[in-house]
Amino acid sequence: MADTLTEIERITGYRIDGSILGLLKSNAESMRLLMTQYRCAIMEIETKFKVLNEQFSLTNERNPIETIKTRLKSPESIIEKLNRRGLELSVDSIEKNLNDVAGIRVICPFVDDIYILCDCLLSQDDIKLIRKKDYIENPKPNGYRSLHLIIEVPIFLAEEKKHMRVEVQLRTIAMDFWASLEHRLRYKKNLPQDLAEQLAFELNQCAQISSTLDYRMGIIKDRIEKEKASD
Ligand code: GTP
Ligand code: MG
Repeated sequence: MADTLTEIERITGYRIDGSILGLLKSNAESMRLLMTQYRCAIMEIETKFKVLNEQFSLTNERNPIETIKTRLKSPESIIEKLNRRGLELSVDSIEKNLNDVAGIRVICPFVDDIYILCDCLLSQDDIKLIRKKDYIENPKPNGYRSLHLIIEVPIFLAEEKKHMRVEVQLRTIAMDFWASLEHRLRYKKNLPQDLAEQLAFELNQCAQISSTLDYRMGIIKDRIEKEKASD
């Protein structure tokens, strides 16, 4: 068991603590297999975005993707989420109930890039859209903006084909900058309430400024591209 745990730690890159030993002990092999399958699904989607980026940089002479970040949810976060939602702690339950074990975040210079990439991804015939949440069109009350997709992608294993769910978040550089700071505020415990409210208010204003920035930068980009086209 110790070896298997070390192996899981090696594969996932996370330290395993005592609270999740129960789940892992009885299901070490299937947990390891599932996490590997999610990693494969992330690789599939990451490659699809890289291919689109290559293709668009040829035709448009610029990259629609600034950065791609991927993450596999840690065993601790998986257990915490199942517990919080009152769901069964089992490997099957992870696959059935959680949409965000495999996550990929695609950061683009412009808002247009987000929708172009989203349409291209969803038009691929091996991709199935499970859910779409457009927080750009409808920002969250705190100001959060991003386009979220839950998709299913097939992975081809030695003896089977399996459909895995992946959470895709598409955002601009400005949206990502904002979300990183807001995330820090969210996880900052013990802030006096009035300060927390003040910072949330200021962040909300920054979200509006960043939305305007995205919009205006997009207009400038369109103008430049129009000029180039008429050269
Ligand atoms: P959860 O993952 O349980 O939150 O599920 P959900 O169905 O409510 O997902 P949603 O699509 O609203 O958000 C999923 C992810 O988007 C989160 O795990 C964060 O990474 C990101 N996110 C959503 N809202 C916010 C927000 O207000 N601020 C920041 N910084 N990130 C957010
Ligand atoms: Mg999540």
